[in-house]
Amino acid sequence: MDLVIRNASLPDGRQGIDIALEAGRIAAVGPALPLNAHQEIDAAGDLVTPPFIDAHFHLDAALSHGLPRVNRSGTLLEGIALWGELKPLLTQDALIQRALQYCDWAVARGVLAIRSHVDICDDRLLAVEALLQVKQQVAPYLDLQLVAFPQDGLLRCPTALANLKRAIALGVEVVGGIPHFERTMADGAESIRILCEFAAEQGLRVDMHCDESDDPLSRQIETLTYHTQRLGLHGRVTGSHLTSMHSMDNYYVSKLLPLMREAGVAAIANPLINITLQGRHDTYPKRRGMTRVPELIAAGIDVAFGHDCVMDPWYSLGSADMLEVAQMGLHVAQMTSQEAMHACFLAITETPARILGLEGYGLAPGCHADLVILDAANPIEAIRLRAARRYVIRRGKIVSRSPAAHATLTLPGRPAQIDFRLQR
Ligand code: FE2
Repeated sequence: MDLVIRNASLPDGRQGIDIALEAGRIAAVGPALPLNAHQEIDAAGDLVTPPFIDAHFHLDAALSHGLPRVNRSGTLLEGIALWGELKPLLTQDALIQRALQYCDWAVARGVLAIRSHVDICDDRLLAVEALLQVKQQVAPYLDLQLVAFPQDGLLRCPTALANLKRAIALGVEVVGGIPHFERTMADGAESIRILCEFAAEQGLRVDMHCDESDDPLSRQIETLTYHTQRLGLHGRVTGSHLTSMHSMDNYYVSKLLPLMREAGVAAIANPLINITLQGRHDTYPKRRGMTRVPELIAAGIDVAFGHDCVMDPWYSLGSADMLEVAQMGLHVAQMTSQEAMHACFLAITETPARILGLEGYGLAPGCHADLVILDAANPIEAIRLRAARRYVIRRGKIVSRSPAAHATLTLPGRPAQIDFRLQR
């Protein structure tokens, strides 16, 4: 064996497990494996998980904070306007450097797969070409899946459809959309029809920014679900954001969720961004603006969490930490039962793996040897502590290490070191 991890705890609750890695794959998983290896890591009971996945991100805008100015109001619409100011100033080199830097952060945080939307409304397709180059460059250590995203509207922007098709021809894999941003509800529905038919024709997945507003009558998800069913796109379509669902009528949602389930439409919430960008027209009470995560999960719908933004026109914070994202999602949705907290961990690991269609993801023998050893005993503690990623392993090789979190105390009669883990 190339590497054996001893005495791991797994996200499903198994403890005292060894994991053997060989030739980039998981070779064996079980207690006290009688195997020799070139290298051993003693996990000492720490949690070993398949890597984190960011199901929704914008790598073309990431780390552009302050270019050409900061978002003064912090609102979604000023963010879109600011991105419009930045776009003509983008250079391929600078964009590539920022994206590579972000991927470094992601790897160090144990994020080894990212689905990134890329704006295709710039006729130069500068960001598309840059991110396709980045995708190739990071492939040995990070899976980057790109979504052709018509930020200015498929029908509002005259060249968007042609550009989207060009982007797909260049190698972008997923069809994006932004129906709520079109001029009318009817145009939004028409954009969904066009995009879903194109995806069906090309055999592609779909992931649309959908109903990112507080308008309870923004129901583009209904149309997205309808076309998914009509075209047989079951399991290949995702509605991202779906924030209007927070404000929808309960009776209407009770009809909608089973239809989404029937069509196999997945949902992606972006807790850090939804909680800060939505509800801006409210006084008090102020809506949370995140979609109905526990209700969607209870209806049997796949729900993942995305980071969406890090230090860009829409959001000045973030550090590629999907445990921070899960922690925010958990709080906003009041998902504090033991089962719900586990579901939040799945929303940044297994569930997005299904949504992205990642091959070989997981902890079973035969899966890719992609693992993260966390400074935590279980998924709930990992979220609580936003635990340090002690080791990040890609295809059987260690690609990042971080020290365990601890503090050195100088208090009379108290221990010299604490690590914030519950001592029993
Ligand atoms: Fe987004």
